[in-house]
Amino acid sequence: MTVIDKKTLIEDRVNQGLLGQWYPVAKSVEVKATKPYGAKLLGQKVVLWRDQTGAIRCIEDFCPHRGAPLSYGEVHEGNIGCRYHGVIVDGDGVVKRVPAMPECALEGRKALKSFEVTEANDAVFVYMPSVEQPTAPALVLPKELTSDDWTGFLCTSVWETNYRYALDNLADPMHGCYLHSESFTLAFGSKQDLMQLDKTDAGFRVSRVGQVGENFDWTEFEIHPGNMFCFLDIPYPQAAGPGGFMRIVGFTTPIDERTCKVFFWRLRQVSGLARESWRFLYRAQLEENHWNVLEQDRVMLEGMPDDARKREMLYQHDLGVSRVRQLLTKAAKSQIEAELALKVAAE
Ligand code: FES
Ligand SMILES: [Fe+2]
Repeated sequence: MTVIDKKTLIEDRVNQGLLGQWYPVAKSVEVKATKPYGAKLLGQKVVLWRDQTGAIRCIEDFCPHRGAPLSYGEVHEGNIGCRYHGVIVDGDGVVKRVPAMPECALEGRKALKSFEVTEANDAVFVYMPSVEQPTAPALVLPKELTSDDWTGFLCTSVWETNYRYALDNLADPMHGCYLHSESFTLAFGSKQDLMQLDKTDAGFRVSRVGQVGENFDWTEFEIHPGNMFCFLDIPYPQAAGPGGFMRIVGFTTPIDERTCKVFFWRLRQVSGLARESWRFLYRAQLEENHWNVLEQDRVMLEGMPDDARKREMLYQHDLGVSRVRQLLTKAAKSQIEAELALKVAAE
């Protein structure tokens, strides 16, 4: 293996998405006991459904008989039945029954990969194993998603762009006062500034030097052994009801090299009656504003060429963007090296 090959492998891994990570793939309500749900992450098609205990199972979306998508099939007593010729597979990827052929040798065979799944805060997370971490470490969530003091809404959207662009966008607070300048809450503050990058316990924070609390002024990224996420604040005027600023917690899932799915929780720290009034106001009025802002991001990123990186000219404000890229490359390098070492050991 030449040095160039290794560099390409690392770049490909960054583009496809890191392994050894928990990724959100769906809203909890989308995965049912009555109907399979097909999803794709890191180029891998998977099917999810709920078994008889209500637990979510996830296996490759590929029938062991001839490859039909199992997600076109049906849930049968907690297992999944292929629509094409009826083969039944369980949540571990083992063939349970071949109804068309008595005593078929396929029965009892572990034919498909299965994936670990967990549910948290209205979202379903799937673990993509790596050589370094074949079994899932605990999914680490921010306090806003685990404490009762906060309440919010999950919104998801599929963007026709590589997930790296979504991460770059989150690591770039300076776009707020330009791209979103006509929005309800992001029209404020100065259009000139410098950026600052600070290390935190679990990651880093990129912030505008000249202003805090006026616009989307900073983002913090947390990197944990099995997942990463970021959060940021959107200052809110009085008219937006109780709870102070709105906090956004964001996860980005690579679907394939050209598509990603973003998961944003929009949260406020409110309780009691104020909580109900914010939830009502959000549904009635604010949600639409937020969609409009998110659409501005989507349209901009989808318009950028896949290889913008080759021609871009970064400046001081892109400190956060550079940091995210470094982190991804470092993690991809370590994964590729572990895979190559395993290959050598096997030879
Ligand atoms: S392809 Fe699924 S049963 Fe034949
Ligand atoms: Fe934005």
